[in-house]
Amino acid sequence: MVVPVVLSGGAGTRLWPMSRGAYPKQFLPLAGENSLLQETLERLSGPLFHPPMVVCNEEHRFVVAEQSRAIGLPPAAIVLEPVGRNTAPAAAIAALLIRERFPGALALLAPSDHVITYPGRFRDIVAAAVPAARAGRVVTFGVVPDKPETGYGYIRVGRELSEAPPACAVERFIEKPDRDKAQAMLDQGGHLWNGGLFLFDPEIFLAELKRFAPRLLEGAQEALAKADRDHDFTRLDREAFEAIPGDSIDYAVMEHTDRAAVIATDVGWSDLGAWSALWDIAPHDEAGNVVRGDVLVRNTTNSYIRSEGPLVAVTGVDDLMVVATDDAVMVVPRERAQDVKALAEELKAQG
Ligand code: GDD
Ligand code: MG
Repeated sequence: MVVPVVLSGGAGTRLWPMSRGAYPKQFLPLAGENSLLQETLERLSGPLFHPPMVVCNEEHRFVVAEQSRAIGLPPAAIVLEPVGRNTAPAAAIAALLIRERFPGALALLAPSDHVITYPGRFRDIVAAAVPAARAGRVVTFGVVPDKPETGYGYIRVGRELSEAPPACAVERFIEKPDRDKAQAMLDQGGHLWNGGLFLFDPEIFLAELKRFAPRLLEGAQEALAKADRDHDFTRLDREAFEAIPGDSIDYAVMEHTDRAAVIATDVGWSDLGAWSALWDIAPHDEAGNVVRGDVLVRNTTNSYIRSEGPLVAVTGVDDLMVVATDDAVMVVPRERAQDVKALAEELKAQG
């Protein structure tokens, strides 16, 4: 049995102005009718899976509860973090909880904000990765890279595991390289992007945390021991959780462990990191535009024009992203879509 652990604590600042602190991107219907969280919960349901755990910020408890109820997939647990401490503490808590409540089950750590075009194929890949996780590996899901992206982890693929094919050993895990290193790995070949999903035996993962991030593990144990648990929510202890040194699973564990394995996937994966990624995955019209909402677009090519409120009229531009909500309008060239993060952070700092 596999218990999905849906990580839903990210801020999604690069998708401002639709993604906001109170309502980040995973709760928005960005790519389809349902929100990204709902699509994730649906993708992670079926015979292989136990009902999931969702780990999110306290502030989002009702959105998570309502959105999961609305699609008839209530989580087995909703774990509430008082503050964000990145993905490693969330993973530690989930591993501890699964060990306690579902002994013998594997954990599948999954982001809540990705798009996977072929969910059936994705579930087959997870099933194919189970033997490697049972053999004591922390299994990652690799994506063939097509550009020197600096926002992802890179995996140098080693030999196939004779005990658990088709998974392969990971020779090296390089989280968020700079542009030159990313380009070098692309030129060299033999590397995959880390898709941000991890399948493991909680016992093994906790042992690796104990080795590489003992303070983080102790903090997680304390925050869970002192948690306030009721029927709907597990509220982690604020003082203990705040004291945990924040880190991502990639830096805390994956760059160090010799138990990493990877399984290559071809499931139409996109991490929807920025507006340009939404343009990438959506069907384009004959001029290469993606338009949503009340918009008028003329003499324009390869652009993403979206309105959630006012009429947006655009003419004579190329490679532009324009997103309007009731109270904000964002305009950025497609090539610079990553810059929206800095913009949103500056606005947040101004209050
Ligand atoms: N519960 C919780 N708490 N969830 C969190 C927190 C937190 O403090 N921080 C982030 N998350 C959630 C996000 O909502 C997202 O679903 C997932 O954890 C991954 O976090 P990101 O912050 O989006 O990570 P990243 O995109 O920079 O990098 C990771 O994903 C890449 C693929 O998209 C890494 O695993 C990379 O190696 C990988 O390539
Ligand atoms: Mg991400």
